[in-house]
Amino acid sequence: RAERTALFTAVTFLGIFFGLLVYAAKGMNVDVPTCITDVKPFTEGKVIQHAPNRYEIHYLARMWYFEPSDVEIPAGSTVDIYLTSADVIHGFHIDGTNVNLMAIPGTVAYARVKFDKPGVYHIVCHEYCGIGHQDMATKIVVK
Ligand code: CUA
Repeated sequence: RAERTALFTAVTFLGIFFGLLVYAAKGMNVDVPTCITDVKPFTEGKVIQHAPNRYEIHYLARMWYFEPSDVEIPAGSTVDIYLTSADVIHGFHIDGTNVNLMAIPGTVAYARVKFDKPGVYHIVCHEYCGIGHQDMATKIVVK
């Protein structure tokens, strides 16, 4: 009887925690950085346009730049960002957004961003990656 109660309590708490996690991710519109496995680590950066305001960008981080560099998109675009690294671990932060990812060789990180306001969004590497680290940056120009 006691075991049963304990088990029930544990399962209930597990449910609550899971519920809160889903709530945090969906309800509060927080981007949860993920390592996804259905996208293979790629070896070149590219921009794919799916619709007038739907983009997919594959960012390849390497010593000491990001590929592609200086992407231009129209305001109001939703962008799926996939990120991987060709060499060591790099950081990836887009100014003015909550996107903060790690580029880890062999894995692909993902984030979705909607760029409503026109402007220049600077992207910087925030993980020390060698002598060229402080100059490792690119940008997304929203017009
Ligand atoms: Cu790449 Cu620091």
